[in-house]
Amino acid sequence: MRYLVLSDIHSNIDAFNSVLSFFKRKKYNKILFLGDLVGYAAAPNQVVEKFRSLKNVLYVRGNHDKVCSGIEKGNHFNDKAKAAALWTMKKLTRNNLNFLKKMPQGPLEVNNDILIAHGSPINEDFYIFSDFDAYQIFMQTNHFITFIGHTHLPIVYEFDGEDVNGFFLRDRMVIKLDRKKRYIINPGSVGQPRDRDPRASAIIYDSKLDKIYAYRINYNINKAFDRIVKERLPIHLAIRLGYGV
Ligand SMILES: [Fe+2]
Repeated sequence: MRYLVLSDIHSNIDAFNSVLSFFKRKKYNKILFLGDLVGYAAAPNQVVEKFRSLKNVLYVRGNHDKVCSGIEKGNHFNDKAKAAALWTMKKLTRNNLNFLKKMPQGPLEVNNDILIAHGSPINEDFYIFSDFDAYQIFMQTNHFITFIGHTHLPIVYEFDGEDVNGFFLRDRMVIKLDRKKRYIINPGSVGQPRDRDPRASAIIYDSKLDKIYAYRINYNINKAFDRIVKERLPIHLAIRLGYGV
């Protein structure tokens, strides 16, 4: 089975469309989506509608999906994220808003080997930023792979039963997984990468070969930038796309 693993699209339809057309050629059987369809950028309805049209998708909600649909207030959001969330809530059609409200809370077990979650399987809002953060999660789970998003950083944490080793995924990296180890893997963000590479980030997991294939995909950042400016969302949200931060 080939899984396309995506996370943190954040209303960036230009990035999302480019990723989907890129992976059409790579072939996959299922999509695993790790949350944050909306928030930040300027095309929430387009992204939700495109997402809803896809087949064979397993998914969990993200923190922005909660705040933008009114499930949570977002008191912990910074001013720019909050402004974008309020704008998104107003802009969403009733259908799309209802869809977001019904997105399932993680973690979701895909099968005996694979778990998906937004921030972490223990707490969907928790950020796994370090080997120690990952270690704590390994201690409380037993799946071969846990896919997470939320930090917008493409990273693999491998656990040999004693130590955690974390390393960044770069474009075209291929990682052969070791069945004697366990993994927490973040595919990075489709719509707002933060590792100083502005290209959209996504991975394929081939469960037959036990390999991870990392990709960075170019998309029309100027178009995403212009949409944000046109809707008078905070300009910072447009500028950061060009820097990948
Ligand atoms: Fe996010």
